Amino acid sequence: MKNTDIEKNLSKNNAGIAVRDGFTGGLGVILATLGSAVGLGNIWKFPYLTGVNGGAAFLIVYLLSTLLVGLPVMISEHMLGRKAKAEAISTFLKLNPNKKQPWWLIGVFGVVAAFMIMAFYTEVAGWVFAYVIKSLGNGIFSTDPAVTGAAFGSMISNPWISLGIQWAVLALVGFIILQGVAKGIERTAKRVMPVLFALLIIVVIRSLTLEGALEGLKFLFMPDFSKLTGAAILTAMGLAFFKLSIGMGTMITYGSYFGDDQNIPMNATKVMLGDLVVSLLAGMAIFPAVFAYGVEPDAGPSLLFITIPTVFASMPFGHFFMVIFFLLTSLAAIGAMLSLIEVPVAFLSEHYRMTRNKATIVIVGLLAAVGSLAALSSNVLAEAKLFGKTFFDLFDFLSSNVLLPVGGLFIVLFVSWVIGWNKVEKALTNNGTLKNVKLVKFYFNVTRYVTPILVLVVLLNGFGVFG
Ligand code: PHE
Repeated sequence: MKNTDIEKNLSKNNAGIAVRDGFTGGLGVILATLGSAVGLGNIWKFPYLTGVNGGAAFLIVYLLSTLLVGLPVMISEHMLGRKAKAEAISTFLKLNPNKKQPWWLIGVFGVVAAFMIMAFYTEVAGWVFAYVIKSLGNGIFSTDPAVTGAAFGSMISNPWISLGIQWAVLALVGFIILQGVAKGIERTAKRVMPVLFALLIIVVIRSLTLEGALEGLKFLFMPDFSKLTGAAILTAMGLAFFKLSIGMGTMITYGSYFGDDQNIPMNATKVMLGDLVVSLLAGMAIFPAVFAYGVEPDAGPSLLFITIPTVFASMPFGHFFMVIFFLLTSLAAIGAMLSLIEVPVAFLSEHYRMTRNKATIVIVGLLAAVGSLAALSSNVLAEAKLFGKTFFDLFDFLSSNVLLPVGGLFIVLFVSWVIGWNKVEKALTNNGTLKNVKLVKFYFNVTRYVTPILVLVVLLNGFGVFG
């Protein structure tokens, strides 16, 4: 993008009042939002969860969740943010007509979720960044899982390395966030997303052209519903929330940076599809290769760090592709982390009128503190468990399987029952300038009846309420 566009966006209006920072146009909106959605969720979580939960059947539930829950929640969030032109908590304070009802709590839970997710996300991102460097050498390049397992183990069992890489990641993210919405977030997304996409395609082609690749495709696309438990269905829905960055205020905050001319339902659909394509490509990069070398796909979170290197070490030109793979994963993580940290930073800077610099420093500091609980979960704090889970696992589980779905549930209830049809119609048709009323009406009805019931049933079922 041209610098002058950004400058214009950040400049003052005629009355001399500073214009709120925001995305500069359609491409910026799509790429920044897609940059938030695409992340470790696509390349680390989606493959390992699909691997653990038996492949295609899990994918189908994930797809349904994305369509019937994910997309309506994303549209709702973008709409709320753009209407209020404010960060997440202020959005509910502004738009709620009945000040006695505490809808702003959704925003508070969102900030809490942002902290929980960032706590483990920055650690996994740290592993990935470390693996970009390690992949250049020979330390993790082995066909023997005992060797790759030992390399991974020696990294995560060292508390100083764990903290160091996490703080390095936080420093990088904080540095980009300091530059602002247009110059920091949007500009980074515009640089990173095309490269990420190109690198991913390269790895997919390599994987699909291996002998025996077909088995992996079968695993990914031919469903076996016998493995689908209530908990797996909740996990699939939780993944849809996590993947689309919804249920916690990220998309409200980003929506507040959209221009009034943006077509919200269309943009959200594009982002949902783009994110889905990246997840499927990640699956097509990983499973065909995994099956081609007869490796089991159900290793869980360590799939990327222990299993995948052995697969690369087995294939022709594998070293080259391994470097590309970890590089693209690290790029994917950046946009997602920017959007996570933006939620509390925007909250502090707008609600408490802190400067962006100060807000960023405060939040990075707090994240380093909370994040260290996750960083130390594989070493010093390995035995510190709550509900049988380490902090790392607890943050991961609570955010995806509880906070985001519950947040999403209340967001759609707020939009469809409190904001109501008349205002939703105005907001999503851009005051009647977009000829999409029928579509908006359809979305509204899904939001009012289908999404909340689905989320509720899946949540209760996931926690075994139906026996
Ligand atoms: N969607 C991101 C990913 O897939 C993670 C994320 C979750 C980002 C929630 C923002 C909010 O990696």
